[in-house]
Amino acid sequence: MRVRLKLKTVFVFYFMVSLLGLIYALMQLGQRCDCRDYGESKDQQISQLRGELQKLQEHIKTSELSKISKPNLHAIYVITPTYARLVQKAELSRLSHTFLHVPRLHWIVVEDAAQPTPLVTDFLAASGLTYTHLHKLTPKDKKLQENDPSWLKPRGAEQRNEGLRWLRDMGAAAEGKEAAALEEAVVYFADDDNTYSLQLFEEMRYTNRVSVWPVGLVGGMKFESPVVQDGRVVRFHTGWRPNRPFPMDMAGFAVSLRLILSNPEACFDGDAQMGFLESSFLQHLVTMDDLEPKADLCTKVLVWHTRTEKPKMKREDALQRQGLGSDPDVEV
Ligand code: UGA
Ligand code: MN
Repeated sequence: MRVRLKLKTVFVFYFMVSLLGLIYALMQLGQRCDCRDYGESKDQQISQLRGELQKLQEHIKTSELSKISKPNLHAIYVITPTYARLVQKAELSRLSHTFLHVPRLHWIVVEDAAQPTPLVTDFLAASGLTYTHLHKLTPKDKKLQENDPSWLKPRGAEQRNEGLRWLRDMGAAAEGKEAAALEEAVVYFADDDNTYSLQLFEEMRYTNRVSVWPVGLVGGMKFESPVVQDGRVVRFHTGWRPNRPFPMDMAGFAVSLRLILSNPEACFDGDAQMGFLESSFLQHLVTMDDLEPKADLCTKVLVWHTRTEKPKMKREDALQRQGLGSDPDVEV
């Protein structure tokens, strides 16, 4: 009896001690280590990271990146005439992807159409760009016909004028700060088939009156360009009629919005002779002496007058005749 009692006591005692040990061990698991060295090195690490973060923040403040994202960066209004054809959506996609990289760009897309088309409407809505969607049908007698040579009539003139009208209406309605911001903006005419470097937009962003630069692959030349002497444009490098008032391609200049607003008569002459469309507009605004050469005094090509090949539809036409053409409900 006595022996049994002793054993039970020992057993209970042993059980209690182990339980307490276990509870203590579990409590220690959740505790912070109060080791002094460990704490110090952590604090050091944190203050080092804080310092680095501060340096990075300062760097961002002074870097080009923040200049670009500044809300007071001058705006660029880009007017693009466009018309329905097989490559239209491909051209607009390529163009929009360039523009997505340009801060403070407002895209004015003017369709050569009687009504806005679903293709362009949906495209713009999904583009992620700031845009205005306009339309202006080129009258039949001014429109280049299927078999006309491409130089016979100017293209995109009515649409660019419609874009200018929209800008002038907006300018007339603007007040205070908004009007002041418009005064600093610049306008560029970007056809839907050309190729534009991102640098081009930073060159044109600060334009007092009209800024100019070379255009690659145009006019049967490697490039056409204003020729600069002592910082001024003195003549033009072009292979054809260098004595035109402004022998430049549409892609080769940008105009301050202030100048456009203060010269309401300046527009594109849809009846202009071949090669005189650009001059018909610029003549109202500046003389050669006023031109501001950009792109390292017109020594760099930052835009190319690329033209997209018209896709051949020989096999599509043959299949269509057999009732096996591509599904017309698929937007291309
Ligand atoms: C050259 C110039 O680069 C153009 O800026 C100028 O308008 C044209 O000549 C001209 O002489 O009128 P090019 O490549 O021959 O350009 O012209 P396109 O690219 O075929 O057309 C210029 C713009 O007008 C394009 O954005 C195009 O989409 C648009 N366009 C063309 C229309 O809106 N409607 C049309 O019927 C044809
Ligand atoms: Mn073109």
